[in-house]
Amino acid sequence: MAGYLSGDARKVTTHRLIEMKQKGEKISMLTSYDYTTAQIVDGAGVDVILVGDSASNVMAGNVTTLPITLDQMIYHGKSVVRGVRRALVVVDMPFGTYQAEPYEGVKNAVRMMKETHADALKLEGGEEVIDTIRKIIGAGVPVMGHLGLMPQSINKYGTYGVRAKDDEEAEKLVSDARLLQEAGCFAIVLEKIPAALAARVAAELAIPIIGIGAGGQTDGQVLVVADMLGMTKGFSPRFLRRYADLHTVMTDAIGQYVTDVKAGDFPNETEQY
Ligand code: KIV
Repeated sequence: MAGYLSGDARKVTTHRLIEMKQKGEKISMLTSYDYTTAQIVDGAGVDVILVGDSASNVMAGNVTTLPITLDQMIYHGKSVVRGVRRALVVVDMPFGTYQAEPYEGVKNAVRMMKETHADALKLEGGEEVIDTIRKIIGAGVPVMGHLGLMPQSINKYGTYGVRAKDDEEAEKLVSDARLLQEAGCFAIVLEKIPAALAARVAAELAIPIIGIGAGGQTDGQVLVVADMLGMTKGFSPRFLRRYADLHTVMTDAIGQYVTDVKAGDFPNETEQY
């Protein structure tokens, strides 16, 4: 089946995302961590592919995103870039590579861009990392911000619950979003916050706001590809819509393969040399 925008083969740029917001065209974004999946996601017409540090959970089986390293993110980033022709590819800067010193953040961001050939980077945080974000953008690297639930700070929160439900945290989020826009970020991800707050930020800011668990009034949506394809079990937040049940499809197919091998039915005469 052809993708939604498969007739429009132009490479998606950060400028086009801002034009899409101005025209009221919603932005679709999904994660990918490998070449084969990225080819499928890109071919289906997704506008932005995020090489998320959720690779730490989805690909490596870690409980949090914290353990994934810069080298591992570079490996995933390179693999995805090789599979993509149209979508804008954004790679997450992993935990510990930009929070300490602006100099270190710029050095790691430049290495990420040089080695992955990605189009942009995503960093979590507002005021606390704004100097680093300014310097990374100053070095010529497009940056996507990430506010609301920031999984790299899970040990500070202690829970993956909805963020910014109280006025103080909501006002800090709005002020951080303004700071990110002023610093030159081309878009911001808002994760797991009340829909009304996300709608307010999207209405106020000129740059696209991409939501995950942030309601329908943002300029675009992002999901983790393994979750929306139903490959992961036991993760069912309210915001997740499953578009397939690949866990069952894959289990049935693999089970059939095991049966065929055990029965001596695979390979048959046409499947050998
Ligand atoms: O790492 C990731 O997959 C993300 C999305 C959930 C936005 O940051």
